Amino acid sequence: MPTSARTRVVALISGRGTNLQALLDAAAGDFPAEIVGIISNREDAAGLERGRAAGVAVDVVSHRDFESREAFDQALLERIEAFRPDLLVLAGFMRILTDEFVQYFEGRMLNIHPSLLPAFPGLDTHRRALDAGVPEHGATVHFVTPTLDAGPIIIQARVPVELDDDEHILAARVLREEHRIYPLAVHWFAQGRLRLRGDAVLLDGEPLRSV
Ligand code: GRF
Repeated sequence: MPTSARTRVVALISGRGTNLQALLDAAAGDFPAEIVGIISNREDAAGLERGRAAGVAVDVVSHRDFESREAFDQALLERIEAFRPDLLVLAGFMRILTDEFVQYFEGRMLNIHPSLLPAFPGLDTHRRALDAGVPEHGATVHFVTPTLDAGPIIIQARVPVELDDDEHILAARVLREEHRIYPLAVHWFAQGRLRLRGDAVLLDGEPLRSV
């Protein structure tokens, strides 16, 4: 596929960027999407170096430079638009976005969350899963809608919770799955197979809840 026909993806990050790396690695092969820009709200995010190493343009928009969430989101939106993206992916982006921002990118913004949503939205998902004693845990890729971690689900990966797991062991087991399902979801989107219609996710025109 010629480069110009690939789906243009912008990634938002705040930290280490291993999911970003999984997307960069996928995009380096025969893949219908390319990462055209990476934006971090923190200039010390390790993921920026991953982007530079892959030859992708990186940018920093620090939330500290803005007096309100609205002003930050507006600046962020403008910097994203400079990359002319078809798809926006949140890859460990640790800021809550305004409803206006989310609505602007509705149907073309994905997030990955380290739990089997709707279980454990928010932070500390692995510790909370252990505390709750659930037998299974996992990760979810979903379209982003205004309610945090509640958007329509595209794909989930399940892992067992073992008796002697601690937070770190469980997190690593989940993360391996994250690195598998996020590129897959982006692949589907880039192939034009994935659509958000109301609250439903369609894959090849058929409603989907989880795979
Ligand atoms: C991942 O666990 C992801 O699910 C969550 O934030 C973490 C980011 O990790 N949204 P990384 O920066 O991709 O390594």
